[in-house]
Amino acid sequence: MRGFVDLHSHWVSAIDDGARNLPDSIALLTALRGAGFDTVVATPHMRPGLFDNTEADLRRAYEATCKALAGTPGLPELLLSSEHFFDDIVFQRLIDGKALPYPGGHAALVEFPTRAFPARVANRFSDLMRKKIRPVLAHPERYEPVWSDASVVEPLLDCGALLLLDVAALAGKYGRAPRRAADELLERNYYYAACSDAHKASDVAEVTAGIKILFDRIGKEEAMFLLSEGPRTILDGTVES
Ligand SMILES: [Fe+2]
Repeated sequence: MRGFVDLHSHWVSAIDDGARNLPDSIALLTALRGAGFDTVVATPHMRPGLFDNTEADLRRAYEATCKALAGTPGLPELLLSSEHFFDDIVFQRLIDGKALPYPGGHAALVEFPTRAFPARVANRFSDLMRKKIRPVLAHPERYEPVWSDASVVEPLLDCGALLLLDVAALAGKYGRAPRRAADELLERNYYYAACSDAHKASDVAEVTAGIKILFDRIGKEEAMFLLSEGPRTILDGTVES
């Protein structure tokens, strides 16, 4: 059986609020491998004002971490992308080819502010789709508009966006409202893939608990799609819309 593919994690050393140093990176990657992920995409933050990382900064940090990891046994396959905060600046970078879509260039991970969806977001997602970059929305269950009405994501799904579950939400890592929203989005079959969004090795206990809940809730076949086949189609550009 093929392992899981993690499309969202923060294991690159000293570039955002994830791994602080090489031992942190090794501990996190080893824990994710132990949880069943045999491919782990680094998605360090690109968020102006908070994590002022350019594409070049992230590539440099990734290369440095990979170089330092060389020869470490028991690691998953490693890839690089970014978690793009969807403001005007980062949107323009995505349009201009100055961001970090997933390897293969078919899709990009985006995150929203917690309180409200960005203005004209459906138009902007359509602009990305015209550029052949499919938006993958990070942790929709954490956004307040989704808590009161899960159907607010429907215009985004209509554009071709994919929803990426943070499995730890199912285990209650972020509290009751995100857990309920995750339940609702699962019930509606709105998720296309599931990830860890792990920042440190100790996060992986709740990731493992969330994976177990996911298998119990939707069954092995659907859970394996969210954790393995779905992410693979995002990477190889074979998502069916
Ligand atoms: Fe993240």
